[in-house]
Amino acid sequence: MKITKICCIGAGYVGGPTMAVIAQKCPDITVTVVDINQARIDAWNGEDLDKLPVYEPGLDKVVAEARGRNLFFSTDVNKAIDEAQMVFISVNTPTKTYGEGKGMAADLKWVELCARQIAAASTSDKIVVEKSTLPVRTAQAVKDILDNTGGGRKFQILSNPEFLAEGTAVEDLLAPDRVLIGGDPGPEGQEAIEALVSVYAAWVPRERILTTNIWSSELSKLTANAFLAQRVSSINAISELCEQTGADVTEVARAIGADSRIGPKFLKASVGFGGSCFQKDILNMVYISRSYGLTEVADYWEQVIKMNDHQKARFAKNIIKSLYNTVNGKKITFLGWAFKKDTNDTRESAAIYVADHLINEQAQITVYDPKVSEEKIYADLEYLNTRSPEEIRRLVKVVYDPYEACLDAHAVAILTEWDEFVDYDWQRIYEAMLKPAKVFDGRNILPHEELRTMASAYSPSERQYSNY
Ligand code: UDX
Ligand code: UDX
Ligand code: ADP
Repeated sequence: MKITKICCIGAGYVGGPTMAVIAQKCPDITVTVVDINQARIDAWNGEDLDKLPVYEPGLDKVVAEARGRNLFFSTDVNKAIDEAQMVFISVNTPTKTYGEGKGMAADLKWVELCARQIAAASTSDKIVVEKSTLPVRTAQAVKDILDNTGGGRKFQILSNPEFLAEGTAVEDLLAPDRVLIGGDPGPEGQEAIEALVSVYAAWVPRERILTTNIWSSELSKLTANAFLAQRVSSINAISELCEQTGADVTEVARAIGADSRIGPKFLKASVGFGGSCFQKDILNMVYISRSYGLTEVADYWEQVIKMNDHQKARFAKNIIKSLYNTVNGKKITFLGWAFKKDTNDTRESAAIYVADHLINEQAQITVYDPKVSEEKIYADLEYLNTRSPEEIRRLVKVVYDPYEACLDAHAVAILTEWDEFVDYDWQRIYEAMLKPAKVFDGRNILPHEELRTMASAYSPSERQYSNY
């Protein structure tokens, strides 16, 4: 079957960029991305390509090329579903905040709503593609709903997890390591798989398109994220050991990464991993394992999260300890709030938890991030539900100039590895700070030796840099 019309439900960090690239690479396919959030759709349709709802390097160009030609953004969900032969589900699946599985399981409310809406809106057979990361066996639930409420229409369910990383979404989509498609082993399932393979084959070499059964595909996505997060927790555990022993974690990472069995990527020690996927997917895996009675498996993966929580708390405690065990009323400047560079996404960012810890000690936090707005920063802290909006606004200030942010600060903490931070005039920042000036480099990106020399030019006692 040749696909000519695609609908994608969910115009977020995954749906938006993925569909933009499919539309760019497949000019003969009409791609309509729908969302219930009118403001988001308006922003995708906006004249100003600097204001797309998702910031990703290169995305503006892709959207500029395809939008209005064969890429459309709309809130008319039912119409787009009905017109398409293939419907992607790319809605959010956050960790449950209530009831059974609270704090662990994925909340499938939005996915189920999508399935019901697809069933209700369809007047012809469809291929439904799970793009959101979902717990293993969700496809079965989606299928049950479609088969029982779809009025006799036939639905083939595919799992096609997205492996793009934020900040490099466009590059990852244009040249993926692999595309994974899971489907039913029967002839109709294989035909559906082949239809989706043909879409990707427009720009991805066939040998990089892997096909599996649906459960393997769903589990592979959780496993990939669990392995990646595990590498970060592993190197972070080693960073603590390095700080005690005088080994340098960057040197250790380089030495072990040279072993081709280990590889050099994903070995950067940090203040802790964030993002919408790692924690959610591991918690999900832990929850599923426990529900099958697999205690050792669950405990093993849970440790990755515990180590990450420890790393974030340790970073905050280290700041407090270095500032003579009190930060009450002290100005601490955060450079960076996003969970990694080159994105405006802040979900699960380590900055949120480090800030919360320091606010508990009554610190005055000033934040500068090149892409994250003041409203977003306040919303992230309010979402924790640990204190009132008034207290947050009293203790946290957001400024849009990095030098102003650092003025009269007792300490500067790097929370995100934005490239521009490295290029700042650190002599100027040093001079503007209160002495002894302290810098805590939670991403290990600054030229530490240079900074040490700079500080020692003033007074040897003023040297203080956290060694991540
Ligand atoms: C290991 C290290 O690889 C080597 O660099 C170090 O110098 C000494 O320790 P070795 O113990 O000889 O070498 O063998 P290795 O190939 O690493 O296997 C260790 C164990 O892991 C074996 O029992 C092997 O069967 C098992 N293994 C390895 C697996 O079960 N699965 C794998 O994918 C790889
Ligand atoms: C991740 C997966 O990489 C991607 O394949 C999947 O589709 C979604 O989840 P993402 O969360 O966007 O992507 O970013 P990623 O680059 O994986 O970084 C996740 C977190 O780990 C960030 O906070 C990052 O700063 C941190 N990290 C990553 C480290 O601390 N050290 C590293 O070496 C790598
Ligand atoms: P992700 O990182 O997985 O892309 P986002 O939260 O960025 O997650 O995007 C998910 C999008 O899905 C949101 O814009 C949300 O409004 C949209 N969405 C959720 N449920 C539905 C639904 N039933 N119909 C249409 N859009 C939906």
